[in-house]
Formats: sequence, C-alpha cells, structure tokens
Amino acid sequence: MRQTADLDWSNLPFSYVKTDFNIRYFYRDGKWSQGELFSDDNVSLSIAAPSLHYGQQAFEGLKVFETVDKKIVCFRPGENSSRMNHTNSRILMPQIPEKMFLEAIDKVVKANLKFVPPYGTGASLYIRPLIIGAGPKVGLGPAEEYIFIVFVTPVGPYYKGGFKPVDALVLESYDRAAPQGVGDCKVGGNYAAGLPGSNFGKEKGFPVVLYLDPREKKYIDEFATSNFIAIKDNTYITPVSESILPSITNKTLAEIAADSGMKVEKRPVEISEIKNFQEIGAVGTAAVLTPVRNIVYRDQEYNFAPDGKPGPVLTSLYEKYTGIQLGNIEDKFGWLHEIK
Ligand code: COI
Repeated sequence: MRQTADLDWSNLPFSYVKTDFNIRYFYRDGKWSQGELFSDDNVSLSIAAPSLHYGQQAFEGLKVFETVDKKIVCFRPGENSSRMNHTNSRILMPQIPEKMFLEAIDKVVKANLKFVPPYGTGASLYIRPLIIGAGPKVGLGPAEEYIFIVFVTPVGPYYKGGFKPVDALVLESYDRAAPQGVGDCKVGGNYAAGLPGSNFGKEKGFPVVLYLDPREKKYIDEFATSNFIAIKDNTYITPVSESILPSITNKTLAEIAADSGMKVEKRPVEISEIKNFQEIGAVGTAAVLTPVRNIVYRDQEYNFAPDGKPGPVLTSLYEKYTGIQLGNIEDKFGWLHEIK
C-alpha cells in the first residue's frame, strides 16, 4: 500500500502545497549538471540574473495521476518537453534533452510519491518544470548560466467546482501577446501581461477572459489560462493563430474527437461566429476542460449551457479524456508514461 500525505484530497484547491523535494539541474560552461534533489523550496540566484530583469525564463505544466489499477502515470510528458524546447529556442535559452526532462519528472515524482492524490479523489499531482536565466548580466543578452527546476504540488480543479460551466468575458482593451511575439511560448511574461485583463474580468464577475487576435481583434485567440474550443454539430473547432499557446490538452481532445468520428477544424475562428456555436470549452492542463456557460461580447450575452449544465459533446470528450488519464479507458494512443 502506498503511503499518502494527510491532505483533504477531494477538496484540494489549485494552490501550492510544499512537498518533500524538488529537482534541479545547473547549466554552466555549455553543459547541464546531473539532477540534484533539494528539500529547500527557495532558490538562490544573482540579483543581476537576466530572468529577473529581462524575463528570460519559461515554465511548463503537466499532471500525474494514480490510475484505477494503482499505477502512477504522467500524461504526455514528451509533448511538454518539446514545447519547452520550442520556448527555449525562441528566447535563446539552452535546449533541455528530452531524456533529462523525463528523468527529472520520474525522479521528482518518485521522491514525492506520497503527494500523488489517490485514485478517485478528482485531484492530481501538478508538475511545474521551470527554467531561469541565472548568473549576473546587466547588459541585454542571454544568460550564461541557467537553472532547470522541477517541482510538484498536489492540486484540485483550477476553477471552483471542476467540470461546471463558468462565465467568460471577451476582452478588447487588453492583449496578452503580440503578433510575431512570444504568444506561442510558455514564458511568464505572457501571464504577467494577462493579469490586468483577468482582474478586470473578475471584478465584473467573470472567472475567465477571452482574448482576440492582437492584430485585428477579429479572430478568437485564447482564454487567459487555456485554449478555446467550440462544438458545432459534429465538429470540433479550435483557433489557429500565431499568438496562442499550443495546448497539449487541446491537441489531445482534438485527437479524441477525431477518433470518436467528429470532424476537427483547426482554423482562424472569427468572434462573430460565436452565435453559431452549440458548446464552448476552455481547455488546458490546469483548466482540463471547463465548459463555458455565457460569453459576453460587446454587451451581448451568448449562452452555451441553457440549463446550466455542460453540453453532451463536451461531457463525452471530458469523460474520455479523464477516463484515459485514470486508466478507466484503454490508452490505445500510448499517452500514459508510467513512473515505476
Ligand atoms: C497550465 O494549465 O498548466 C498552466 O500553466 C496555466 C496556469 C495559469 C495555471
């Protein structure tokens, strides 16, 4: 029997819980060190580190579950490894070999096994890989030293209530990313740029805000924390844009939709099309698949969950997605990476 931490697993919020260990790798003289486990969850770095001044840093987010047959599995970590390397090249940080990325995950999860939420609690172990430009450098330029840290924290649903519809506001007075900028990269600055928009939405009673394309404000980009998907008839529709983060959850759901006989359309989606959609969801690692009830755009409200309940197509996609993660549905795609 695996020992588990004394936590109220079914009521965990999405917040930080200190676990026993994090793992760190140090990049110096063009080489990564071996991984070292740390129990301290503080980090020491130069006050002149480029991550602190010029935002040369990036992160990832992925999840670990206990399956119905008591295996500990991580969902599609290879995808996060390639996305992180895409971000790293964009802001001139070193590549992280996939082998090292996967080793970091295996080691840090094994060192914190008691924090993997038990099967059936609705919680998961959230993994946060982080790379920061370290070492002193005051002139603008890439750091010469980097720290790659992976920490874990047990989490519950990102939005209160889990698979329950939320209301969203379309923002036109803020952008989260610029055309040809870093909107398709997981850099912290994109999230900092989104803070005032999210606060603006929350003050007006909207837990979620939706960004439009920064060039024309004509096309849908993504929500502050997650990608946008829409269902129309038997079609799964999701925006293609140069300024959105390529969500692994979105990619996975689209693959499940196609496998279930749905048509998948990845294309620019005009905001004027929302009136035609039957169901809308916000999808991401933390948000999982959060159905959207109302979207307010220019004082007009559009409803996608008339009885306040998630629609049938999103419900079926959600059940298949979480069913695979928890081992209740066969993983015929090979998405589960077992941690032994
Ligand atoms: C994730 O979904 O993993 C993210 O990094 C989004 C963040 C706002 C929690």
